[in-house]
Parts: sequence; C-alpha cells; structure tokens
Amino acid sequence: MDLSERLRHPLFGLIRDAAERKKIPVYVVGGYVRDLLLRRPSPDIDCTVVGDGIGLSREICREIGRETGEEPRLQVFPEFGTSRFRHDGLEVEFVGARKETYTPGSRKPQVEPGSLEEDLMRRDFSINTLAVSLNQKTFGQLTDPFGGLDDLERQTIRSHRDPDQSFAEDPLRMLRAIRFASQLYFDIDPDTFAAIERNAACIGTLSAERIRDELDKLILSPKPSYGFKLLDAAGLLPAIFPELTALKGVEKRNGKAHKDNFEHTLEVLDHVAYAQGDLWLRWAALLHDIAKPRTKRFEEPKGWTFHSHEFVGAKMVPGIFRRFKIPADEHMRFVMKMVELHLRPIILAEDIVTDSAVRRLVFEAGNDIGELMTLAKADITSKNREKVARYRNNFVIVERKIKEIEEKDRIRNFQPPVSGADIMEYFGIPPCREVGIIKDRIKDAVLDGSIGNDREQAWAMMLRIGKELGLKEGAGLQAAQAPPLPPASRPSE
Ligand code: CTP
Repeated sequence: MDLSERLRHPLFGLIRDAAERKKIPVYVVGGYVRDLLLRRPSPDIDCTVVGDGIGLSREICREIGRETGEEPRLQVFPEFGTSRFRHDGLEVEFVGARKETYTPGSRKPQVEPGSLEEDLMRRDFSINTLAVSLNQKTFGQLTDPFGGLDDLERQTIRSHRDPDQSFAEDPLRMLRAIRFASQLYFDIDPDTFAAIERNAACIGTLSAERIRDELDKLILSPKPSYGFKLLDAAGLLPAIFPELTALKGVEKRNGKAHKDNFEHTLEVLDHVAYAQGDLWLRWAALLHDIAKPRTKRFEEPKGWTFHSHEFVGAKMVPGIFRRFKIPADEHMRFVMKMVELHLRPIILAEDIVTDSAVRRLVFEAGNDIGELMTLAKADITSKNREKVARYRNNFVIVERKIKEIEEKDRIRNFQPPVSGADIMEYFGIPPCREVGIIKDRIKDAVLDGSIGNDREQAWAMMLRIGKELGLKEGAGLQAAQAPPLPPASRPSE
C-alpha cells in the first residue's frame, strides 16, 4: 500500500532527505500510522530508525533551522537511544529500532538494537505495529508484518503475540485495549479479551497516574459507556473504581424497584459526551449519583429514596480525586459543585418556574450555569416518553427565564450591593453574627426580588435591619469623627 499522498507535511520530506544523506532506514510507526489510516488527527510522530536515531534527528533539526530560521531544541536521552523535538505543533520522536527480551519473573526488559520487525513485534496491539517507510526509494510504503491493516479493517483490537505475556510485561496494556476500543468504537478480539479477564488482578500494580491518564482518554471518547461496560465485563472495574461497581444492580421490595444506577450513570455520561461536554463535566456526570448506594433507603409509601445523595456525593469527590492523583484545584471544585447542584434544575422544572427560584440557581451556579443545565438535561433518562417531553419543555422555560433574569439582574457574578465592611464601618461593630445576619437578609431579598440588585435599596434595608437588631445608627461614622480618648480613660488600662 502506498501512503505517500497522505505524508504531506514538509517534515516528512526533510526526514527523507536527511536519511538519504546518512543512508539510514527510517520509518514512521505506531499510533501515527494507525491514525493516518483511520484519517484521525495525530499530534505525535514516532519514527523508528534502524541505526543512529539521535544523529539523524540532529541533522533534521539543523535542516529545519536552515529552512525556517528557527532550529528546534532537541532533547536527547542517550541511555535510551531516543531524542525528540517540537516542530509546527507536532511532537516528533526518534527511536533506534530495538528488541526487548524479558527474563521470567522480571518486568524490566533487556533492550538491544534490533530490526524493524523486532521493534514492531514488542508493541502492544496489531493496529499499532504498522510502519511506513520515509526513505527515498520506498517513500510511503506500508510494512505490516502482524496483520494490523486487516484488524483496522475488521475494527478489532488484537494482541499479535501471546497476550498473557504482553499484559505481564505491562498490565496497562489491558486498559489501553479497552481505551482504544472505546475511542475507536472497535471490538476486542476474543482471545485478547479472555487474557484481560485472566490477568485483571495485575491491574493493582499500576500507578494511579497511569490509570488516570487512560481513564481520562476513555472518558473523552465519543461513547464512553462502551469503555466502562468493557472495563466491567473484563473484571477491571472493581479494582480501579469500586464506587462505580457499587452503583450496579436493581433491588425490588414490595413490588417497587429502583433503576440500575450504573446503567443510568453511563447513559448520562454518554449524553454529556454527545453534547460535547469537556473532561470535567464528564467527570461530574460520572460522579453525579455516586453516593446513591450510601444514601439508599426504603421508605413506605414512597419506595426507594436517596436523600441528600447530591451533598454526600459532592463530599466523596475529593477522596476519589486524591486516589487518582487528580489535583484538588478549580476543576475538582467545579465537579463538586456540579454534583451538589445537579438536581436543582430538575426540581425547578418540576414546579412552577418562579423568577426568584431561577435567580437563586443562577446565583449558586455562577458562570457554570450553562454546564449545570447540560448535566441536568443529560440526567433525564426515563423510559417514559411523556415524562421526558414534559421535563424537556420545562427546561426550555427555565433556560428562557435564566436568560431574562441575567439580562435584567446581572445575578451570575452577584456581589452583595452592601458589603460586610460597609456594615461594620457604618454601625461601628467588629466582625460578628449581626454582620452575617444583615448580609444574608440583603442577599435573600435581592435573590427573591423583593429589592433590586442596587446599592441604594440595599443600604435602606441595612438601616432597617440594623435598627431591628438594636445597632446604633451611624455609630462607626461618629466614632471615626470623634477625638481619640485620652490614654488614662482607655478601658484596657
Ligand atoms: N506501547 C506499548 N505498550 C504500552 C504503551 C505503548 O506497546 N504500554 C507502544 C504502542 O505500540 C504504541 C507506541 O508504543 O503505538 C507509542 O505509545 P503511545 O504514544 O502511548 O501510544 P499511541 O499508540 O501513539 O496512542 P495514544 O497517543 O493514543 O496513547
């Protein structure tokens, strides 16, 4: 197969010419070729060189410098025989072809120079064993020693060698198989899948960071439920995400059953993915009902209830993120907020949609109101078409109201029109309970619409409440103007 037409980037011409001068065989390999054949964009170019890869990459960087006036900075790792540089938004890596041999009982391979085929052999799945020549005479020709092209056409992830050995070498490959299947919507070959099931227990030896990176890629795939169902079917889920396994199952009592929260969660995640939700909104979808097993009760006559699962769930987020070594930053706080608020738009949509309820929701969600609405809409998974239609309609009303109120009230980034400092200064009081009471009542009044979001009305309200609380009007101002007390009469002396 000739792929020269698809190797259009000028970099490939530079590599070809440099390899010609040095008389070294060089191939673009692995993920780049797989994605080239699938016509998917790929930001990483991996080149395998049968010979001195570092020397060749130096020559290519110099050439880029001559042509563009900007020589890329080459990073060299002599102990691995690899080097890499960034050019034109691409991460380009050069590796000397190598073979790996494992001694039984050790996961650290002995690495020595090898042929192209030996280099492709040591890789994880057949779809990653394709290579395309970048040399002058054979430019664009595909090398496919392990049936990778067939598997791409059959849309199958298959280990081209003993999968048990491949997974023993690196158990992450089990997750990679499922992640690739989910990203590409491919099947997993039955023998490869059976080996994942057999080796599932080894997943516990992997670092949290490596698992998280695969999980993030899986979550970002077009239909992530597929990947999670594969993780579950292969027996990998309990070890990496026990909270999700706990969502599985349906319990029935007195003729009343609740829905399977695992299935429901995955459906919500798919809806968010379909709506182009980003990584963090997808994490929020995955975790929105995570506390349902902990909060589940059976109460007659209602049946199954999950009281406060949104609050308990939000509190579970930091522990789960810590386990995956996801930083406790603004993204985590966003996920917590989404989990905590996910029911609010539905509750609102079930009722008569009042201005003040919408105002409160916009106040609490702030700039994340759009994402919260996406999550809440995704959460409607009922089989009852009439119910779904009713909710959808009400959401349209809620969204219209949100827009109206935003235009009118600027409530999204609401700052109370009278601050705590104003209150303390005016009444001449230190930070105390009364400051909080006045602030909260003003905030509630603005959100309920009983006063406008402006300083004059808020100030008048502050004076009124101050009086009710027995505070001395203008005491702070008077004190500021009064002469200082003589030292002898200071109370502390
Ligand atoms: N590889 C492997 N075993 C691993 C990781 C990687 O055999 N545990 C091989 C694969 O053949 C892969 C190549 O190393 O093609 C490069 O790895 P990487 O860049 O991680 O994967 P890509 O296939 O490029 O895919 P992605 O970028 O989506 O991870």
